[in-house]
Amino acid sequence: MGDNALMSDVLELVDVSVVRDGRALVDHVSWSVAEGQRWVILGPNGAGKTTLLNVASSYLFPTSGTVSVLGEKLGGVDVFDLRPRIGMAGAAMAEKMPRRQTVLETVLTAAYGMTATWNEGYEKVDEDRARAFLDRLGMSDFLDRRFGTLSEGERKRTLIARAMMSDPELLLLDEPAAGLDLGGREDLVRRLGRLARDPIAPAMIMVTHHVEEIAPGFTHVLMIRQGKVVAAGPIETELTSRNLSLCFGLPLVVERRGDRFTAAGLPLS
Ligand SMILES: Nc1ncnc2c1ncn2[C@@H]1O[C@H](COP(=O)(O)OP(=O)(O)OP(=O)(O)O)[C@@H](O)[C@H]1O
Ligand SMILES: [Mg+2]
Repeated sequence: MGDNALMSDVLELVDVSVVRDGRALVDHVSWSVAEGQRWVILGPNGAGKTTLLNVASSYLFPTSGTVSVLGEKLGGVDVFDLRPRIGMAGAAMAEKMPRRQTVLETVLTAAYGMTATWNEGYEKVDEDRARAFLDRLGMSDFLDRRFGTLSEGERKRTLIARAMMSDPELLLLDEPAAGLDLGGREDLVRRLGRLARDPIAPAMIMVTHHVEEIAPGFTHVLMIRQGKVVAAGPIETELTSRNLSLCFGLPLVVERRGDRFTAAGLPLS
């Protein structure tokens, strides 16, 4: 795409499919994310959301179609140059983190693109940055706690701070609120909302199953079902009862209350 306006695209998928064992996990998806947009990906279990994030993070090369991430075409660029520009936090990441490492170390190691090795050469400036991100996620009281002893919510917040550490241009969050209690979810939604509305924050893509987890400041929604796009566009126009029902395969009513959403099945009558 090179020298035209599309250069400002954070992500551009054209007719992308990921096929495994003869089945399309991602099925002819075309989707683009422009700078400044914050996307939510909604879809039922097995819809292909995580697979799509893995493509966006450059960790998974599609079976067909073309992918550009941060202006670089996958296949035409060394992914090792691209990956540090992308921050990712998800369940798969939590499993890779050494459980004995402290919270501060867990965030600090991201600056060096490592998941494990503790290196004594960290600079003061990196440590200050790590502390600042942890503070922003409400984790200041946990700096010396071992990662393995954290609750689910504390773990999620640590990993989001970690994803921010490399100063990414694209932040990918896979179900950041899964497993949190109501208070934990509301706290995280508030923090993500603050981040989403920060004009200098990176482009964001968040996967979720629940419209209740959409933070104010998120602008667009991609709905997928069985690997295919059901709807894509601004939340105001696309997050409708009709689209959500098609996406999850049952009759649903979505309601907006202020800048938040709720969804439920149709009442029996
Ligand atoms: N390497 C693989 N080989 C075969 N099938 C796979 C592979 N990876 C994922 N799948 C299948 O692809 C489908 C999509 O998986 P994916 O993890 O992307 O779904 P998801 O939308 O993230 O679901 P969830 O909401 O449960 O996290 C699932 O049916 C899964 O079993
Ligand atoms: Mg998933």
